[in-house]
Amino acid sequence: MKTVLSGIRPTGNLHLGNYYGALINFLKMQEEHKCFFFVADWHSLTTHPDPKMLHENVRNVLAEYLACGLDPEKATIYLQSDVPEIAELYLLLNMHAYLGELEKTVSFKEKARQNPNNVNAGLLTYPVLMATDILIHNADYVPVGKDQEQHLEMTRNYANRFNHKYGVEYFKLPTPFIYGHELIKIPGLDGSGKMGKSEGNCIYLIDEPKTIEKKVKGALTDNGPEAPNTPKPDYIENLFTILKVVSTPEAVAYYDNLWNTGETKWYGKLKKQLAEDIIQVTTPIRERINDIKNDDAYLRKVTRDGAEKARESAGKTLRDVREIMGFKMF
Ligand code: TRP
Repeated sequence: MKTVLSGIRPTGNLHLGNYYGALINFLKMQEEHKCFFFVADWHSLTTHPDPKMLHENVRNVLAEYLACGLDPEKATIYLQSDVPEIAELYLLLNMHAYLGELEKTVSFKEKARQNPNNVNAGLLTYPVLMATDILIHNADYVPVGKDQEQHLEMTRNYANRFNHKYGVEYFKLPTPFIYGHELIKIPGLDGSGKMGKSEGNCIYLIDEPKTIEKKVKGALTDNGPEAPNTPKPDYIENLFTILKVVSTPEAVAYYDNLWNTGETKWYGKLKKQLAEDIIQVTTPIRERINDIKNDDAYLRKVTRDGAEKARESAGKTLRDVREIMGFKMF
């Protein structure tokens, strides 16, 4: 059994693309591996969030991930800021992170350009904190998107550097989690590529049925196929891609057939079916999100239990690292 770890940014609501892209894979991972999932609330401080918003955002992501099926009995689910061991290891690892390489990080350069008035040291050392998150549980695998690959590479550098410096083979070099299948990419409703790029093309898990109907109705279409058996334009293919994940194979075949015969005037029906099937998927999740969000006792229990498990694992690493670096007890 391998250790898998993922950090979750406390911003934004989950949409259908997140659900089919990452979430359903997390559900499988927690069955097969030792998993750590945490809310990266310290990381979010780099942008100076309003304290009131910070708490609500943390509540929100936690409720959404739990509602999707992340299970505190199977995975260790915690808040980063509940584990002070992370702050200490971060301090120690910072001594091995060099200014030159931090300044060259793509994410740092981008953020610094976007927000020239808030180029704080936390932003600069964001990759060290992320490396700490991973190394403190000696994770084998980290499910990362393209934007996080460089951070993971830096994590391996720090792990390697530490091992060399102290002549130990203590930290494992974590690698991207390999799924063994193509990730499902949910397109947006506006024909512009991925869901999530802009507000208008997104269906959120917390969207009410009325909102979903309206959004699907507004999805980009045209006058229908110009002739039988022509290829579908991207924006029509997109609707079929979503249909494939939320509907039955029979429904997909039925509309595919309508397209191929070259008939027109059935997009309304397709959209109605699509909206209905999306609503069927999201309704139980939405109801759970709302229940969990209002259940402070449950959230308190999940985060307390999670912090306890995470601290046990983190504490062990930290004791070893202190010893390796020369901090000894009298
Ligand atoms: N940086 C990640 C993001 O922006 C969040 C994150 C923080 C993370 N620590 C992590 C992801 C550790 C994986 C492992 O999405």
